[in-house]
Parts: sequence; C-alpha cells; structure tokens
Amino acid sequence: MGLNKMEAQPLTIRPSADQAIVWANDRLYLLDQRILPNETVYIELQSAVDTARAIRDMVVRGAPAIGITAAFGVVLAARDSFRAAPDSWRDRIVTDLQALADSRPTAVNLFWALERMKRVVAEIGDEDPEARLLQEALLIHQEDIAANRAMGEFGASLIESPTSVITHCNAGALATGGYGTALGVVRSAHAAGRIQMVFADETRPWLQGSRLTAWELAQDRIPVTLLTDGAAASRMAQGGIGWIIVGSDRIAANGDVANKIGTYNLAVAAKYHGVKVMVAAPTSTIDMAVRSGKEIPIESRDPAEILQCGGQRVGAAGVDAWNPVFDVTPAELVDAIVTEKGIVLSPDSEKMAELMAR
Ligand code: MRU
Repeated sequence: MGLNKMEAQPLTIRPSADQAIVWANDRLYLLDQRILPNETVYIELQSAVDTARAIRDMVVRGAPAIGITAAFGVVLAARDSFRAAPDSWRDRIVTDLQALADSRPTAVNLFWALERMKRVVAEIGDEDPEARLLQEALLIHQEDIAANRAMGEFGASLIESPTSVITHCNAGALATGGYGTALGVVRSAHAAGRIQMVFADETRPWLQGSRLTAWELAQDRIPVTLLTDGAAASRMAQGGIGWIIVGSDRIAANGDVANKIGTYNLAVAAKYHGVKVMVAAPTSTIDMAVRSGKEIPIESRDPAEILQCGGQRVGAAGVDAWNPVFDVTPAELVDAIVTEKGIVLSPDSEKMAELMAR
C-alpha cells in the first residue's frame, strides 16, 4: 500500500480515539487505524488522491469518518487546483472529486459529504476557495460530534435498566468525528450506570472490534469483553444481554440497515433470543433515494483479506474466498433506529419519511 511509504508525521497532540481526524498545520492528519492499537501513528495527507487512497486502504474507516475525511479531501483538491490554475480550479477538481467518490461504495456519508462540499464549491466566486471550503469541512466535523452526543442521550434513554450489550465492528469515536454512534450510546448509557458489560465481536477480517472498539472502551474504562463473531449467539443464549447496539453505513428509505458483515447474523440471533436491536446513525447515513436494502451497493474486498491472517496464509492452497464487507439487516429485525433527530421504533417507510421531514 503506497501510504505506508508516506512520511508519518508525529503531531504534538496525544493520539486518542477522539482525535482520529485532525486538521492542523494546513494539512490533514489521520490516525492510522490499520495498525491500532499496537502503534498510534498519524499519517499526513497533502492531496485529495492521497486522501482517497487512505479511505480505500482503511487508514480511516467508519461511515461518518469517511465522509468527514472526504470533505477535507475536497479542501486539498481545491487548494492544489487553485494554486495551479486560479481561473479554472473548479474544472480541475472534478477528477479529484471522482477519486474520492470511488474510494469506497457503501457508506453513503461519503457521497453526502461530497454533495455538501460541491454545493459550497458552486457558491464560491473568484476568490481563493480554501478558507470557505475548510470552514464547511470543519462544520461537518463539528456537526457530527454534536449528532453523536444527541444520539447518545436518545439511545441511552431506551436502555431502561442496567444490562450487558453486544456491539459489532467499530462504531465509536474512531469511526466518526468523535464520541461515536453505537459507542456514543454505550458511553452515555455507561455514564448513567446502565451498562454492565460490552461484548465486542472481534469482526473478521479487519478486527475492528478487537483492535479498535476494545481499545476505545478500555481507554474510557468501560468494561469490555471480546467475543469471536461466532460466539455472539451463544452469549445471548446465556442471558443478561439487553441490546445489540450497532452503527450503520447506509439506511434505506424503508429502514433496512447496511452495516459490517455479520450484523445480519446478530440480528437474526437476537430475534430468536428476545434481545433487542438498536442501530445508531446520523441522518447523513439515511439514503432516502434507495427504497430498500436490496438497492444498497455492497463493497466486496480482496479475498486475500480472508485467506490471510496476521500476514500468514491460512486458506488452503487453491481455495477462493467470498469477501462482502457489509450486509443488510431487514427493517423487521430492527427495534430502534436512533438518530440526532430522534428515535424510530420498529422502522418502516412511513416512519423513516416522517423522521427525515422533521
Ligand atoms: O469497513 P469499515 O470499518 O469502514 O466498516 C465500518 C462499519 O461497518 C461501522 O459499523 C459503520 O460504518 C458505522 S460507524 C459509526
């Protein structure tokens, strides 16, 4: 991966989950999530193409974080283009915007952020566009943190008494502007004394659960226990699990939820065991243009991600692998969608339209 060769620039801030995306020294810095928790290293990005590559290569991941990063990528694109050709910068950024849009297909926050930045591009006159675009990217970042705080409170209000929960992948500060969606709910509920234990699925093959969720929660002293993905149903069968709490990469107009592969398994098992399913996501994750989960593009990644583990080949020679990295949980298996605008219980098309109209 080309980014490994880039100079890793230590920042003067203490690396933390809440500082995964940092704009400083007129540059974009990303906490390299591929090597957490063993190393806390920032990668410095100076161009939109490098930013797109960082998204594709998982330096930054998680739907809202991808959107915020892409917004800063537009700032870098406009700066470079304006310096090269002040009269035609708008035409020159088109290729960069396409590179950002092509980085990953499922998280709609990416396209939402690019559209928002494009609207600002259209408003800018003859002046240097950097300051105005940077202002918008910083606003997207700040708004995401505020949305997560609001969701945290809404989601925590659904957890009526102390219980344990299961989460999947990482929908925490690292996956967002800060605080987290699913982990934002966990943080708020924990502060209110309503979380006994967070069981974190390890989340094969990138191990976002064991490397990222467990790291974030341990840093905040929230009790966390790791599970292999296959152990979640057995843990539900043992009792004491009140909720599955996850984030989302895209929610369709009918309330179907795309999230990390394995979320669907969890929701099916939860139904059988009488465990409730909560999806916490900002409205920037809701795509009213797709009617159902069937229309959500699901990213497939290199089979090598499954055929190898820790750099060693584990798949038998000559064997192929199927590696879709997201799945769709039908709305009927979801008890609550929690957004910054409020909660939708037992989501359907009508309720989702009403939420988005608020
Ligand atoms: O492949 P990833 O790590 O980008 O997948 C992330 C997830 O599936 C998250 O659960 C989702 O983006 C919600 S993050 C608040």
